[in-house]
Order: sequence, then structure tokens, then C-alpha cells
Amino acid sequence: MRLILLAAPGAGKGTQAEILSEHYGIPTISTGAILRKAIKDGTELGRTAEKYINEGKLIPDDLMLKVMDERFKNDDCKNGFILDGFPRTLAQAEALSASPIEIDKVLSIEVDDQTIIERLSGRLECRSCGTTYHTEHRPPKTPGVCDKCGGELGARDDDKPETVKQRLKTYHEQTEPLIEYYREKGLLRVAKGQSEIEETSKVVFEALEA
Ligand code: AP5
Repeated sequence: MRLILLAAPGAGKGTQAEILSEHYGIPTISTGAILRKAIKDGTELGRTAEKYINEGKLIPDDLMLKVMDERFKNDDCKNGFILDGFPRTLAQAEALSASPIEIDKVLSIEVDDQTIIERLSGRLECRSCGTTYHTEHRPPKTPGVCDKCGGELGARDDDKPETVKQRLKTYHEQTEPLIEYYREKGLLRVAKGQSEIEETSKVVFEALEA
């Protein structure tokens, strides 16, 4: 299974990717996680990416494509993968289509902007391992502490309301057109996001296995 998850920021790509990854036994490649690690490590990529991420904008295509070229060379990609956050522009999608990598399915998870704003205001992320929680929908067992690694939980810098507004604008302008691009290729599956994580997983599996 080589799957692309296509959805607005905060629609639940990362959350569903974690569940799908476990179910299919394939890795998730999250571009957001790669970039946040680069920022944490203080690399050149991280220094460049930070400025764009904090403004709610996309990092330049040539840079993203270079990062993904390297990532696809990893051995763990051999039996399939879930792409969470890539491609995100028409140029990235066309570069992927022109590469030897064959995508099997593209899943669009539909969630309206108002729900996204509400969800991102309650999102918590582990500062050590990146696991995502939600104050209401997926609370940690101990407040402020990651269930998986015991790390400290906090809000993401780009979840500030004004940045979320810009990220949604960026999504509608630059990423949403990919839904039609992949529909025309016959690869698109659509799942309507639900108000709870488990219910969304159910419709996600139904859409993928139909
Ligand atoms: P990235 O990290 O990919 O951010 P994003 O697309 O904005 O997505 P998020 O991680 O914010 O949300 P998600 O859809 O994974 O939702 P989640 O599962 O956490 O990218 C960050 C930045 O990096 C970009 O803005 C850009 O600058 C740059 N970048 C990345 N890729 C790039 C690319 N290809 N090209 C250029 N630049 C790139 O869920 C959200 C919250 O809701 C959580 O708290 C969760 O617990 C909760 N939740 C999830 N599902 C449900 C549900 N069904 N019901 C209730 N709560 C739910």
C-alpha cells in the first residue's frame, strides 16, 4: 500500500496515519514531523523551514522535493508507506507522478474549517516523540505527560489562531486543487471526517477497502 493522505491542517491526517500504519504494518512519512525535527536539531533545513512554518506558509517546492527524494531512499519504504503532508502543491504532485514511485490510493478526509479551528485550539503534542493528543477528544492519561514516552506535552507554535487561519488559506489555495488532480487519475477515495477519532477511522477503512 502506497497511500497519500490529503486533507486540511488539523483534519486528522496524523491521527489516522498512526492507526493505518499499525494496521497495514507500513511506515508513515510525515513531512511536518521531518521539518519539526530539523528545527529542533537546528539544521540548515530547520532554519529555513521555521520561518515558513511559523507564518503558515509552505516551504519551497525544490527544498521539499530534495527532502523527499532522500526519504524515499530509506529501506523502510520498500513495502509501502503512508504519506502525511506530501504532496501539497501541484508541482510536488507532478514531480511524484513523474518519479518511479507508484501511488495506489489517495485518501481525502473532509473536515470543515470551523471544526479544524476548534480541534487545533485543543491539540497537544509531545515535545519528545511528537505523539498528538487533544484536551477533549484524546486526552493523555496524566495531564501534561505523554502516555508513550513520559515527555512534556505542549501546543505547537503554528497552532496559534492567526497562524491556523493562514494555514487554512494556504491549504485552500495550494493543496485543495490536488483533490481534482487525483480524482482525474482515478486514485481518489473520500472519507467524511467524524466528530470522534474512532468513528473517523471506521469511515477511513470503509473508503480505502471499498
Ligand atoms: P504538518 O505537520 O503536515 O501540518 P498540517 O498539514 O497543518 O497538519 P497537522 O499536523 O496540523 O494536522 P493533522 O491533519 O495531522 O491533524 P491531527 O491528526 O494532528 O505541516 C506543518 C508545516 O510544515 C506546514 O504548514 C508547512 O509549512 C510545512 N510543510 C509540511 N509539508 C510540506 C510540504 N509537502 N510542502 C511544503 N511545506 C510543507 O489532528 C488535529 C487535532 O484533532 C489533534 O489534537 C487530534 O487529537 C484531534 N483529532 C483528530 N481527529 C479527530 C476527530 N475525528 N475528532 C476529534 N478530534 C480529532
